[in-house]
Amino acid sequence: MPFDNLRHRVKTILANNSESPQQRMTEVCELLQTSLGYYDWVGFYFANEADRTLHLEAFAGEPTDHTVIPFGKGICGQVALSNKNFVVADVKAQSNYIACSIYVKAEIVVPLFKDGKNIGQIDVDSHIEDPFSIEDERFLEWVNERVAEIL
Ligand code: SME
Repeated sequence: MPFDNLRHRVKTILANNSESPQQRMTEVCELLQTSLGYYDWVGFYFANEADRTLHLEAFAGEPTDHTVIPFGKGICGQVALSNKNFVVADVKAQSNYIACSIYVKAEIVVPLFKDGKNIGQIDVDSHIEDPFSIEDERFLEWVNERVAEIL
């Protein structure tokens, strides 16, 4: 089970107080994107409540044009409003979806809570169809809990 080893490495990255939270989140994205073959793009978006938009703060994988996403738009924007995990086995089946790359077949977005408030999310894109399980959900929830501790 690769997640147990990754948990240990995520903790080590996040404990490095000499780096900014954004640097540490970027390293977490890089760790996940390089360690899990079906994690092709990994990013953290954070909410601007006044503007009702999400802003990309850290990522690993191909750069995306979608660095700002309005609440309600795409999978990410829907999670900003629902406060719930959104697992998309096949992005072609989604009408409210923002395509970042023609290669993406599946996506998982898990909200990040700080003091009970949905302040952002982790977003993972995959080039493989239907790759995400409940284990990915539990792992990404755990990652977000650990990230919330340094914010
Ligand atoms: N596909 C996302 C947009 C972000 S990219 O995956 C990086 C969505 O529909 O919200």
